[in-house]
Amino acid sequence: MLVEVVLFAVFLFLLLQVLKKPANYPPGRWGLPLVGYVPLPGPTIQDHFRNLHKKHGNIYLWRIGTQVMVFVNDFRLLREAFNRQEFTERPDWMLYKTNENIALGVVSSNNLIWHNNRRFSLRQLRDLGMGKSKLVEAVQTRAMWLVDRFSKRVGNGTPIALPIKIAITNVIWQLVGGKQFEEDDPKMTEFDAIFKEFLDSETLYAIQDFLPWVRYLMPAFLFKRLTKEHVVINTLDRFLKFFYEEIDEHRATLIPGEPRDLIDGYLMEMEGKKDDPDTTFNRKDLAFLVMDLFLAGSETTSSTLTWMLYYLSTNPHIQRKLQVELDAVIPEGYQATLEDKPRLPYCEAVIHETLRKSSLVATGVHHVASRDTTLGGYTIPKGAVLNTATLTIHHDPRYWDKPEEFMPERWLDQDGKFVSKKEGFVPFGVGKRQCLGESLARMELLIFTSTLLHRLSFAPLPGKTLDLKPDPSNPFLHLPVPQELHVTVRT
Ligand code: HEM
Repeated sequence: MLVEVVLFAVFLFLLLQVLKKPANYPPGRWGLPLVGYVPLPGPTIQDHFRNLHKKHGNIYLWRIGTQVMVFVNDFRLLREAFNRQEFTERPDWMLYKTNENIALGVVSSNNLIWHNNRRFSLRQLRDLGMGKSKLVEAVQTRAMWLVDRFSKRVGNGTPIALPIKIAITNVIWQLVGGKQFEEDDPKMTEFDAIFKEFLDSETLYAIQDFLPWVRYLMPAFLFKRLTKEHVVINTLDRFLKFFYEEIDEHRATLIPGEPRDLIDGYLMEMEGKKDDPDTTFNRKDLAFLVMDLFLAGSETTSSTLTWMLYYLSTNPHIQRKLQVELDAVIPEGYQATLEDKPRLPYCEAVIHETLRKSSLVATGVHHVASRDTTLGGYTIPKGAVLNTATLTIHHDPRYWDKPEEFMPERWLDQDGKFVSKKEGFVPFGVGKRQCLGESLARMELLIFTSTLLHRLSFAPLPGKTLDLKPDPSNPFLHLPVPQELHVTVRT
């Protein structure tokens, strides 16, 4: 009997060792092997994040399936982590590789491919986006197109989100392909449809990254069906085909030494390095890079602008104050550019407050620990995935007075000058992988905001209240719910 009791005690002890979170890992929700911590239905995922932050403070973990996810809620800790080499890479997830052996492009890639594409893209954005460039002209043209589009529906409810998305997507087309599409161009309609399908199809595809063992429970064809692999691959192929056509058209009309856009720039770089055995530049990688720029630069900027119009509609006194500044600084018929920024402190304050309050990329983009290491005094195992708690940091009273309020004044000093506050402000991320389109996004936000609000006023529809809660269908991106606004032309 004694032997059985001792054996049972040893078994229990060993079982607990297997189930227990290893010593010195960050506090949080460990759950069970294979499934991790599965939350009870009820609270939203953002409520869970809020509660975990309240309970554990600056850093906590949540094991989802087999994947250890670490959430960083402290600005300094985040800045320290994302400036360190061992937290620079993206996870080796199928979600990021989408049917390739290694991730291509720039958002999901690592090592030399990432390094080369990031350097190349930053240089292109600098060369194509400065001064009186075609890119600035495209932003101005699209801003006026929006004014025109919104003015036509004056008096009725005006849908906001879709026209903004069309305008912003066209700016990216100008950057990468030197062209813009009309709203009713069948190519644009097809492009939009594939874009949406691709984003929608990816959720179940992530099963293999979080619950990889599920594939051993069923025949391969069923697992593929479960993860919607055929849909992901089919939409990816159609998406890439779109870009290959563009690339080949560019190649046929390229004049060496005279790049018209980012695709031309890449093709020239590719040609220049064709005898280098270590080159990472090739046609397929270019197609992925172009796709990345659309995926990373379109929804983000257009949703930020949509949020801004919602915030200004619900805060008419702030909208009026912004318009007073615009009337004083911008002459009739003129459109602001980056050069006007120093004279538009309130406009800058409204833009920054929108980026803070909306916290669009609510849990950042994933970074993986590429080796066993430590952070904030805790052990971070190789393979753990770090998340930026953008929403939490942007609403943390340590950094923000009355964080729930939309208050552009927090960005101004006593003399009304704009103060670029950095502590606790992370809409574009921090460190080595900080958003590479930040300068373009800031230019777009300034030109769109000043052009639209100089000419138009926005309000909720009569008798209606705007829903300012994020779309619940995607807890990781804080997207505005599509709604109509009442638009009036300013006289
Ligand atoms: C308001 C607009 C935007 C917001 C809020 C935003 C936010 C972000 C965030 C949070 C990241 C992740 C940083 C990290 O990994 O820690 C990111 C990465 C990135 N963004 Fe943006 N972004 C915006 C606009 C743009 C635009 C206009 C472009 C380009 C056309 C762009 C291109 C990228 C790319 C390529 C990356 C990946 C960088 C890398 O992995 O090295 N973004 N962005």
